[in-house]
Amino acid sequence: MSQATESEAPTTVSLTIDGTEVQARPDQTILEAAREADIDVPTLCAYEGLSNVGACRMCLVEIDGERTETACTTTVQDEMSVAVHTDELWDQRRSLLELMFAEENHYCMYCEMEGDCELEDLFNEAGLDECHLPLEYMDLDPDTSHDYITLDLDRCISCGRCIRSCEEVVGNATLSFSDRGREAEIVADDDVPLGESSCVSCGSCVQACPTGALYGTQSAYRGRERNCEVTETTCPECSVGCTLEVYTNSGRIVKIEGAEDGPDGGQLCEKGRFELLGDGRPRVEKARVGGTEESVSEARQRVREILADADAIDAVASDRLPLETLQGFAAALEDYPAAVSVPGRERVTLEDRVVAAVTSEFDVDRGDLYASTLAGLEDRDSIVVYDTSIVDSHPVAASYVRRAARSGADLVTVEDETDRLDRFSDTTIDRSAPLADVTDDAAEVFSAGTSAIESDAQSAAESLSAAVDGDSAIVVGPEIRDASTLANVFGLAAMSGAEVLSLNDASNQVFGRMETTDSPADPDVAYLFAADDRDEHIEAMIEHALAADTVIVQATRESPLTKLADVVLPALDWYERGGTFVDAAGRRRTIDPVLRPRGAIDDDLVADVEVDA
Ligand code: SF4
Ligand code: SF4
Ligand code: SF4
Ligand code: FES
Repeated sequence: MSQATESEAPTTVSLTIDGTEVQARPDQTILEAAREADIDVPTLCAYEGLSNVGACRMCLVEIDGERTETACTTTVQDEMSVAVHTDELWDQRRSLLELMFAEENHYCMYCEMEGDCELEDLFNEAGLDECHLPLEYMDLDPDTSHDYITLDLDRCISCGRCIRSCEEVVGNATLSFSDRGREAEIVADDDVPLGESSCVSCGSCVQACPTGALYGTQSAYRGRERNCEVTETTCPECSVGCTLEVYTNSGRIVKIEGAEDGPDGGQLCEKGRFELLGDGRPRVEKARVGGTEESVSEARQRVREILADADAIDAVASDRLPLETLQGFAAALEDYPAAVSVPGRERVTLEDRVVAAVTSEFDVDRGDLYASTLAGLEDRDSIVVYDTSIVDSHPVAASYVRRAARSGADLVTVEDETDRLDRFSDTTIDRSAPLADVTDDAAEVFSAGTSAIESDAQSAAESLSAAVDGDSAIVVGPEIRDASTLANVFGLAAMSGAEVLSLNDASNQVFGRMETTDSPADPDVAYLFAADDRDEHIEAMIEHALAADTVIVQATRESPLTKLADVVLPALDWYERGGTFVDAAGRRRTIDPVLRPRGAIDDDLVADVEVDA
């Protein structure tokens, strides 16, 4: 027996599982203890990170030779003797599996998940190759109303992993059971097609589903998971920087999943899980000069000549590029009359100035003002969200906010048009209420911020002050670009001890701290390193292009911007790049190349256009 005095609770208990002695924490389930000891227990409804419900009964175990319990819902006890793989237990599992086979359509050879399905694996492990029961599945048409997800209820075993994932991980609660018992069926909202529901297309339910009942439509029949290589890299779509597990087969990306041990807890959003799979814009295959295809080296020579003759170069690089490429781009242009900038940099520069004023006035460290992890949001008593557009721009950050609100944190949203978190917020404050005089002078900004917060006359400021204390977090979205609001946010954090999670509209946050300069007022050349940037940044770069006489564009994909260019150079795609990325919490993240470059270039340093000797 493990050591414990009467007043002291034991820190470990000892038990045997299938004859192996195992040490476990007293609060662990038998399933958790077995998994930590590498002992196989069959399961279907249990899933890492979700609550246990004991629905499928695959994990039945015999305890002390006396009773059977489900291992996922039974807590370990000292000196317990657990049997998992007895003939009697496998007979029970076979009966349950046969029932599932009869009630649903599990002809694996016709299923997209064939070869990757947990249910199929259990059929095989149980040696179940025929069904003695009458087949009763409903023969329903799959729900294909969603852009990215197919729901095939005939393959659903009612394990509820999708429901718990949507509720407990994403905080969205779109899915539920329509009924109880054998009639239970997965429904979205009030039984509307998935594509018309409140689903935010994060795909967490797809990742959690053990069968072919929920699958990513783009990934269907592209190849089995077990034949794929898996590469971990960092999502380039926003500054949350979720860890992607990218599955590739024969030089193609098959699907993308969240890394369950990643800092974002295995979550992804629509952009990271689905949009990265299918960028429909054609690839820039060749270099072009004046609309005519040229070799990359000839195009580079033309770029050198254009730059050497320029009086003022407006150089703009995508914030999706790794630190090393951004630095290489800036270094290659330093001998020219070039000003290098990155979209979104203005917010970072302004925020730096406001934070400098706040840290000096309140004598706090810069690091004390910022939240260090996204997961830390879950432990807060209250969360204030300035700008709920984070639901679209930083969806995984928004799901942490929703989860915190569902677990009892007070949620205050400060919004001027649509409150995209209104299903969850306790208080909404009108952001257009005049909190302070707007000025971009750092010192005045600071005093404007504090006077707004301290003013008895302003109810909005009062509500905020009341909601925020040292156990609060303040999340600031990308639409906050004015000094006054930033001063309110950071001044409030400094006074209360709250921490700020700052989410701007750039992906790689490292650029904000790079030496960059303002675009020249009257550039004769624009060098726009767009890479695989999305529409909104492409539109911003088009404005830079229209202000210059000669335009050089380095891009991965064709777009209206490449049509404006005098010289087009190819660039790598997101999955071909390697380097370093800094996320919203200031952590350095690694970008690993997933596939070898397939375009006309091997690396992005084709931008290296140093002056000829
Ligand atoms: S995709 Fe995400 S939001 Fe939509 S139903 Fe699945 S888990 Fe819920
Ligand atoms: S759809 Fe998948 S995850 Fe959801 S209950 Fe059915 S089998 Fe389980
Ligand atoms: S939240 Fe951001 S980093 Fe995460 S998957 Fe979505 S776009 Fe990618
Ligand atoms: S895994 Fe334990 S009951 Fe399903």
